[in-house]
Amino acid sequence: MAYVRRNTIKCIGILTGGGDCPGLNAVIRAAVKTAIGRYKWKVLGIEDGFEGFLRKGSIKELTLGSVRGILPRGGTILGTTNRGNPFRMVVKRGGVEKVVDSSKRILASFRDSGMDALVVIGGEGSLGIARDLYKMGLPVVGVPKTIDNDLSATDITFGFDTAVNTATEALDRLHTTAESHHRAMVLEVMGRHAGWIALRAGISGGADIILIPEIPYDIDKVCSAIKHREKHSKFSIVVVAEGAMPAGGDISSIGKTADGVVRLGGVGDRVARAIEERTGVETRVTVLGHLQRGGRPTSFDRLLGTRFGAAAIDLVARGGFGRMVALRTPSIVDVDIVEACGRLNTVDPKGDLIVTARDVGISLGA
Ligand code: F6P
Repeated sequence: MAYVRRNTIKCIGILTGGGDCPGLNAVIRAAVKTAIGRYKWKVLGIEDGFEGFLRKGSIKELTLGSVRGILPRGGTILGTTNRGNPFRMVVKRGGVEKVVDSSKRILASFRDSGMDALVVIGGEGSLGIARDLYKMGLPVVGVPKTIDNDLSATDITFGFDTAVNTATEALDRLHTTAESHHRAMVLEVMGRHAGWIALRAGISGGADIILIPEIPYDIDKVCSAIKHREKHSKFSIVVVAEGAMPAGGDISSIGKTADGVVRLGGVGDRVARAIEERTGVETRVTVLGHLQRGGRPTSFDRLLGTRFGAAAIDLVARGGFGRMVALRTPSIVDVDIVEACGRLNTVDPKGDLIVTARDVGISLGA
């Protein structure tokens, strides 16, 4: 799609929002290199997501020196937060908690810092905030990120591949100890309401049972799969997505964030206890947690992050505001940011990966 070229741009801002994810630094590095090297723009980094706009001293110039050596590093050099939607910020005034709308302060801070455009690297939440600020006049371009791979506007998000690799390696390690002790091992992985990490890592890591949110499980079927395996192998490997739930039952949660977002967790323990009680097989649970978000990005995520970062800057140069870069294999395209925040990308229960899983004898607990 062609846009009007905005020759007036001299300075852009970049921020990372939401949960961190491997590959964020690759995006920042590519964006800075492209903005400075190709377009001769000044680049400002906003610390800790949108919060940095509201705090003194949290907007700093990014130079080529600032991004040197960060490509293999996990996390984000800018810092991030998955709390504090600026449209509904919880603040304490006189000891009393109040919800305030800080969006106008963000627009003012953006203007006062001399930025002409803003690149927001974020997941569903941060891109939704970017979309709402765009509607208020902020010239914004989005870059999709999440280990969950649950954004439907892009074929894949960076960070996901690293998370799947980490979970696969965990399964390799669990296999050897499971086999030695003749145990069932349950691995709980992240992904929120999408089962992508569980499914891909489960297939790659040779799991016997994979439970995902898209296919509510029947614990009797899970247990009979374990019993069936007992006949020829004295151990079993179960991968459970944190958002998995029993048919007719509830999702397992460990409370809510300050913003009221449900924190998922506990299903691994729930499944492990049920297996042990019903089958008598000694069972242990491992919650992989934030190990999936940390550490060095895979080459896939570094490459995708680099492509997204460079493409986001080209999109700014074309005046493609209110849009987001996305992978439509084999190309990097741009899509309406509203589309990006719409439908979740979840596993198709009749899709190819599920068929493969069943073909190779993996039980999906249903
Ligand atoms: O969205 C990424 C993610 O890692 C989810 O998979 C997980 O449910 C959530 O973030 C954890 O968030 P927090 O870092 O707040 O514990």
